[in-house]
Amino acid sequence: MKICVIGTGYVGLTTGVCLAESGFDVTCIDKDVNKIRQLNEGEVPFHEPGLDSLLKKVMVGKKIKFSNKIESAIRSNDIIFIAVGTPSMEDGSADLAAVFEVAKSIKKNLNAFKILVIKSTVPVGTNKKVAAILAGRGGKSKTRFAVISNPEFLRQGKALADYKNPHRIVIGGTNQRAIDVIMKVYAGCHCPLIVTSPENAEIIKYASNSFLAMKISYINEVANICERYNADIREVAAGMGLDPRIGDRFLEAGIGFGGSCFPKDMKALVHFADLVDYDFKLLKAALAVNERQKLLPVEKLKKNLGSLRGRTIGLLGLSFKADTDDIREASSIALINCLLGEKVKVRVTDPRAEKNMKRLFPEINYFDSPYEMADGCDGLILITEWPEYSALDFKRIKPKLKKPLLIDGRNLFDPKTMKKLGFIYEGIGRN
Ligand code: UGA
Repeated sequence: MKICVIGTGYVGLTTGVCLAESGFDVTCIDKDVNKIRQLNEGEVPFHEPGLDSLLKKVMVGKKIKFSNKIESAIRSNDIIFIAVGTPSMEDGSADLAAVFEVAKSIKKNLNAFKILVIKSTVPVGTNKKVAAILAGRGGKSKTRFAVISNPEFLRQGKALADYKNPHRIVIGGTNQRAIDVIMKVYAGCHCPLIVTSPENAEIIKYASNSFLAMKISYINEVANICERYNADIREVAAGMGLDPRIGDRFLEAGIGFGGSCFPKDMKALVHFADLVDYDFKLLKAALAVNERQKLLPVEKLKKNLGSLRGRTIGLLGLSFKADTDDIREASSIALINCLLGEKVKVRVTDPRAEKNMKRLFPEINYFDSPYEMADGCDGLILITEWPEYSALDFKRIKPKLKKPLLIDGRNLFDPKTMKKLGFIYEGIGRN
């Protein structure tokens, strides 16, 4: 079977490479000529563990091609996965311009029956809108295509493992012939396959991401209470998580969630709820809690240092989580903005995300080594739980600091050990 994947972001590229590994002949399309050039040279344009080597493997087997020629790719493939971005607009709604543009290209090149598979995260009703674009005036070409909603649940940093071991595959559609074909595409996956309506599939994606984000905001609020009552959120979360109705995942308190998905999808869900006159209060509160949580380290700095004007503060990590160079909606951005507003001299280090951050904040000081960064700092804030930071030699770091203050935004370190080493240690939700 031949498959075309449009969009080579981390969802599109992972999907394309994994489909090629499963034996399909895959053509990946992207508008960005630089990306296509890099991919043709066997280089992944972003950091995603394992994707580089799998890409090289499928390229050797000639199972994958990269091109920016969308028309010919549409004409020569009958299954087309759409994995283009749907970023937030100012009012919180998802920007569907890229999805509709692809739909229009497909309409122009409908030379045979085509199955469109929407992998991009799109609001409820988009499947129908895409179908309307393809049908055209009077719905003339209705018999020549089917639109399937097939949301993706993989995480950045764990994209390959999640793609290969999904918890469920959701296929939303109304055309049985197309549903059967897509079920065959996923025949190798050993997980529940949910065949449902396009609307249900679209909502499943938003409701899942928003629920997970809400869980994080909830545990973060509980953590803030723990701090005030001399309790430890790690132990509280462990005690909660043993109840299978709650579950032990996504109960890690910290300085808020980021990334290209949770905030964007929550805002879009609030927006499409608004469109039907529904005020989704819970999600609005979860978003507000997250914004407050991102700035928690500033309060902790002030508690320990008083005025921050002229202080030098070092940030360990910039990306929104470990194993990615992505800084979209990262807590580090809100923090840097706030620290700069307080006239702090900001120093940063990150194993992968420096290049992306430099575009946003060229004026701050970047360091390759956390040890060099620490030299002369009034305090450090751990932003991202990179494994290399767990292995830092704090005996070496302490004498370099003007004040041995460590704010652990991800509860990565053991408070007792850090205190024994002579640090003023502040975790999140831990006494
Ligand atoms: C998220 C979902 O987990 C995926 O299922 C989904 O496919 C993806 O969005 C998407 O829609 O594309 P991702 O954004 O890659 O994946 O990141 P997560 O691993 O879910 O983490 C998101 C944020 O939550 C990170 O900033 C992380 O630090 C934070 N987090 C996570 C916590 O603060 N506490 C936790 O317990 C878990």
